[in-house]
Amino acid sequence: MDNMKQLVKSAYNRCAGRYGLERDVFKNKKQLDWLIKRLAPGAKILDIGCGAGVPVDKYLVEKGHLVTGVDISEKQVELARKNIPKASFLVKEMTEMGFEDGSFDAVVSFYAIFHIPREEHFGLLRKINFLLKPGGRLLITMGNEEWEGSEQFCGVEMYWSHYGKDKNLELVKEAGFRIEESEVDDSGGEHHLVVLAKKPPIT
Ligand SMILES: C[S@@+](CC[C@H](N)C(=O)[O-])C[C@H]1O[C@@H](n2cnc3c(N)ncnc32)[C@H](O)[C@@H]1O
Repeated sequence: MDNMKQLVKSAYNRCAGRYGLERDVFKNKKQLDWLIKRLAPGAKILDIGCGAGVPVDKYLVEKGHLVTGVDISEKQVELARKNIPKASFLVKEMTEMGFEDGSFDAVVSFYAIFHIPREEHFGLLRKINFLLKPGGRLLITMGNEEWEGSEQFCGVEMYWSHYGKDKNLELVKEAGFRIEESEVDDSGGEHHLVVLAKKPPIT
């Protein structure tokens, strides 16, 4: 694992409690509803960079879906297992996930992909495409403005790396998805691109 990923892992192990206290649990409901209204009951969903599972996995489980979360931080996974006992959680670096192709009806990833170097984003999007069943959905938060660097976050040094909105939308399309919804979420004084995309069904 490279140094930046080690830094992020160690940072979330130290700031997980504070991150959870500061996480706005009402944010993302509208975007999650974009996805949920398109899912069949009991859909299999993978959450990449799941954190402590609140609010995203909690909401998906309450809606009757089967959730697996992966996160690089042992502390976040420990909290997620306590918070959402009905879901299953694994400590895993997102580019090293070992699921079989076609395992999931949907993949969600909120505020996580931009913690790995942006040169790896396309490869991860391709991998997600393979993990989805034909017709499966991806709901993901990405950067809105190009930026790379580290700064203080929840009391620790944290690292981010992302492209801007137009390039990110291109990457999603090039990775084999059709974009169904997208918006820049400006809530909480932050600016994130949120995308719902579909892996085309086999015709
Ligand atoms: C800002 S938090 C978001 C957590 C959750 N998705 C949410 O919406 O609140 C980012 C999460 O991504 C995880 N993460 C960062 N880099 C990762 C990586 N390379 N592989 C897996 N998880 C990672 C962190 O440990 C952290 O829990």
